[in-house]
Amino acid sequence: MSPLARIRRFGIASALAAIAIFASSCGDTSQPQNTLDPEAPIARQLDRLWDPVFGVAVVVFVLVEVLVLIVAIHYRRRSDDDSPKQIHGNAAMELGWTITPFLILVVVGIFTIANVVSIDRVPTGPNVMKITVTGHQWWWEYDYAKTGIVTANELHIPAETTIDLRITSADVIHSFWPPKLAGKLDAIPGRLNHMQVKTDANDAGKTYWGQCAEYCGLSHANMRLKVVVHSPADFAKWESDQMAKVNISGLEPGSAAASGADLFRIKGCGGCHTISGYTAGRIGPDLTHFMSRETFAGAIFPNTVDELKAWLRDPPKQKPMMPKNGLGMPNLNLAEPEISDLIAFLQTLK
Ligand code: CUA
Repeated sequence: MSPLARIRRFGIASALAAIAIFASSCGDTSQPQNTLDPEAPIARQLDRLWDPVFGVAVVVFVLVEVLVLIVAIHYRRRSDDDSPKQIHGNAAMELGWTITPFLILVVVGIFTIANVVSIDRVPTGPNVMKITVTGHQWWWEYDYAKTGIVTANELHIPAETTIDLRITSADVIHSFWPPKLAGKLDAIPGRLNHMQVKTDANDAGKTYWGQCAEYCGLSHANMRLKVVVHSPADFAKWESDQMAKVNISGLEPGSAAASGADLFRIKGCGGCHTISGYTAGRIGPDLTHFMSRETFAGAIFPNTVDELKAWLRDPPKQKPMMPKNGLGMPNLNLAEPEISDLIAFLQTLK
């Protein structure tokens, strides 16, 4: 086989391998965080910008690579006798390869800026729902401005409503990123960044997964999030459930749940966690309606008795945290009966 044929064969094999790797990672639309499979208006708008820009980039890439290969192979130096003739200066070509990329970038820039401006617009008006999203090491807090509802990790929103997510952080920089729903926006301490979210009527019932997308320390990878979209009627129901008072004094005296409620205070849980009307800790997630959540600890564990038991036995073993530095839940060295009582109590927080 000639060297040229060998290079050709190697080039084709490499290109096919690269295409296979890219295709297998991008094409699987069943992935819950596939950016290329948008499922809501803002994500679709971003995708509509990305697709043509990617198309232009592919054409430029292929053109440049083909020309490089042709020139490198066809005009390679075979011997000293037939070395290519050196030339210098060609005004037409130089103008061409300066003006063409400039024009391409201007067109791409116009569409990009138009989209950035429209997505970046802070929605206003009486019907806009304002929710403050606060990143914490390593979980998300959501505060609903109108109702005062506070919840964690699982964001509930009504379909067909414009939502103004006011994104900030309590400690270091995080990034709020539900790829199929909207873009990605940094959560910066002392700053409010606005992310506009709007879903269609037929998005009701959908759950969008996302995660923190800015490295924020030990458990960055365990800082997931969920956005649950409801029909307006279902959302009203969720709201009234979240606003209902929990009745701790009504727990049956001597029951496991009542003893768990006592332990919640005695063991210091209440110093970090709020249970509305009972404790007012502001360090960890608000647990007032804990059982309404499907997950816990940065949306990484399903909210089941077994997972809660494993968690309470040794939280930093389940999820890497740094309790000695005040980051994350410490191991409280609870006895098994204490764990059962605490879970019985948590199960009353519907
Ligand atoms: Cu928070 Cu990464």
